[in-house]
Amino acid sequence: MTLEFSLTGTKLTARSGILELMDDLGRAMTEQPDMLMLGGGNPAAVPAIQTLWQTRMRALIDEGAAFDRMLGNYDPPQGNPRFIRALANLLRKSFQWDVQPENIAVTNGGQSAFFFLFNLLAGRFANGRTRKILLPLAPEYIGYADQGIDPGMFVACQPEITWPDGPDARLFKYRIDFAAVEAALATEDIAAIAVSRPTNPTGNVLTDDEIQRLSDLAKSHNIPLIIDNAYGAPFPGVIFTDARPYWAPHVIMTLSLSKLGLPGTRTAVVIGPEQISSAVTGMTAIAGLANGNIGQQLVLPLVESGEILELGPRHLCPFYAEKSQQAQAWVREFFTAAGVDWALHVSEGAFFHWLWLRGLGITTRELYHRLKARNVLIVPGEYFFFGLRDEWSHCHECLRLNFSQPAAVVREGLRIIADEAAQATTKV
Ligand SMILES: Cc1ncc(COP(=O)(O)O)c(C=O)c1O
Repeated sequence: MTLEFSLTGTKLTARSGILELMDDLGRAMTEQPDMLMLGGGNPAAVPAIQTLWQTRMRALIDEGAAFDRMLGNYDPPQGNPRFIRALANLLRKSFQWDVQPENIAVTNGGQSAFFFLFNLLAGRFANGRTRKILLPLAPEYIGYADQGIDPGMFVACQPEITWPDGPDARLFKYRIDFAAVEAALATEDIAAIAVSRPTNPTGNVLTDDEIQRLSDLAKSHNIPLIIDNAYGAPFPGVIFTDARPYWAPHVIMTLSLSKLGLPGTRTAVVIGPEQISSAVTGMTAIAGLANGNIGQQLVLPLVESGEILELGPRHLCPFYAEKSQQAQAWVREFFTAAGVDWALHVSEGAFFHWLWLRGLGITTRELYHRLKARNVLIVPGEYFFFGLRDEWSHCHECLRLNFSQPAAVVREGLRIIADEAAQATTKV
């Protein structure tokens, strides 16, 4: 029997490029255990954090009644009331943000939060308008790319490329081109501005000034600014630079437990205007009745005590910053020796390096296939530039590398990538 799917069904089941790539990565990993995995988005196994969650789970089991309640009851669709109260208190006390429980909605992970938010705010409207999400700086998180139920959901802006220590240092940083952002706001029907901070894939952290300017622009256009803090502040806090956590009444902030080492609990939080949090609550009820409550119960005492804010600075940042430094040194060593014209985006947070191979003679998709044949997995850069209106050769010259795997894996992976890049560059 062949069934016909609705337009929505067709959109959501399309073999998107990212689905195929993720399938391909997953299959390669399970079928070839010796694969060098620099491709996925899993957080690293950080021993102190693993011990913490094991201890918390044991404590819950020992409490007995709390454990039974956690497994045996549905939470309200907004999330666990005690967890929500504790989080609102923590944000008010620590950052003086006027966040009340009514401003918060829990979701089954940040990915679900973005599916709800984008389709709530953008797409086709009753009066014939089609509104869009503005991404002020491409490249941006691959996971957003196929989330719009209506087509053409995103408009993205090409960034300025800056060299904070001069070009010889081979470290670049994307900056928002505000003229391009203002032009997009003037010419397109924009429903919201969205950024990830730190950015997946680049490890860029938008500066306080950039965030303030985006916030001012959003406010003056009467639209929300969505800040995706999957890696950021206040938690998990995988940020290596000084960056102020930011919220304002027209800001929708998302936080997730995934990069605190709990991706399996599928828990995230949306903090925004009450109209948004109650809409997200309604969407959770329709799509899934309630949220998984294990993550909320695991972190509850740490939210009540404020200790959750310490996990990043105390455990995650030192761990990932060291891995980042190590990988940067290997990139410098191997790519310089291979005679490849390389540059890295400055590593300001998250756990990816964004490598720019200038004059690479092939697309990074082709490089991905060649590397896979040599047992190395990376994510080709092309997937992160959705929403751009103009062709940009830079899109075919960048790769995302996860540096959180064991040192031997990252080092050998980088050595092979440098070798393969050198062959691709000299062949053309
Ligand atoms: C920038 C960004 N946003 C959101 C997510 C979604 O994460 P989760 O659904 O696990 O909360 C991810 C996952 O890697 C991400 O990198």
